[in-house]
Amino acid sequence: MAIISFLAQKGGVGKSSLARLVAVEASRLKLQVAIADLDTRQSSCVAWLERRQESGPRRRQVKVVSAAGADEVLKLAGEFDLVVVDGAPHSSPVSLDVARLSDLIVIPTGLSLDDLDPAAVLVNNLIGAGIDRGRIVISLYAIADSKPELAAAREYLDRGGYTVLPGEIQFRTSYQKASDRGLTISEIPQYPTLRKRAFDMSSAIVDAIPS
Ligand SMILES: Nc1ncnc2c1ncn2[C@@H]1O[C@H](COP(=O)(O)OP(=O)(O)OP(=O)(O)O)[C@@H](O)[C@H]1O
Ligand SMILES: [Mg+2]
Repeated sequence: MAIISFLAQKGGVGKSSLARLVAVEASRLKLQVAIADLDTRQSSCVAWLERRQESGPRRRQVKVVSAAGADEVLKLAGEFDLVVVDGAPHSSPVSLDVARLSDLIVIPTGLSLDDLDPAAVLVNNLIGAGIDRGRIVISLYAIADSKPELAAAREYLDRGGYTVLPGEIQFRTSYQKASDRGLTISEIPQYPTLRKRAFDMSSAIVDAIPS
């Protein structure tokens, strides 16, 4: 059993998109996977699953559970091979409790300082709360098509000693449309390059779980 949590201090940075990606790709590997949706107000993964079921009943389905607290996540971890936690828009005491239970914490961020700084602050807060640095990684998500900006962001994070996953996910309408249809960002066969980047990001996340 493993728990991977997608957390952020900012809303709209890609937590749900990455959580759904990893959940569906892991379930293709015959793992029993559940998504724990901590956003009990919006329950966006619950709504996404409904769209998924409507868009194709034969599509690979994953279990989505609305979870208000760490106890529920722990209970799911006893029942499933992998629990993927989709964090609420802002970090909270509940997300800290869930972070403590997690084998891996993934923090998505864009490239601007307005995105990078809150991501760095969250990593520091988690480490300050006693969470092992080796269990926290940053994923560059919904980024602009600027190589200099990407290099600057990676350098900024490297200098701070943060672990950044290999690869990036660009900002693309096709990824957003996939989500609107109840798909993951890897379920876009008409865009093989984007599809592969999403698949590679999912693999990088799973590979980052400390053994
Ligand atoms: N790579 C992408 N390119 C463009 N749009 C994207 C991409 N990934 C996701 N989106 C869209 O961006 C929005 C935010 O993404 P997502 O819901 O994954 O973020 P979030 O961190 O879970 O947000 P929240 O904090 O509100 O829960 C959604 O409308 C989604 O469809
Ligand atoms: Mg979300």
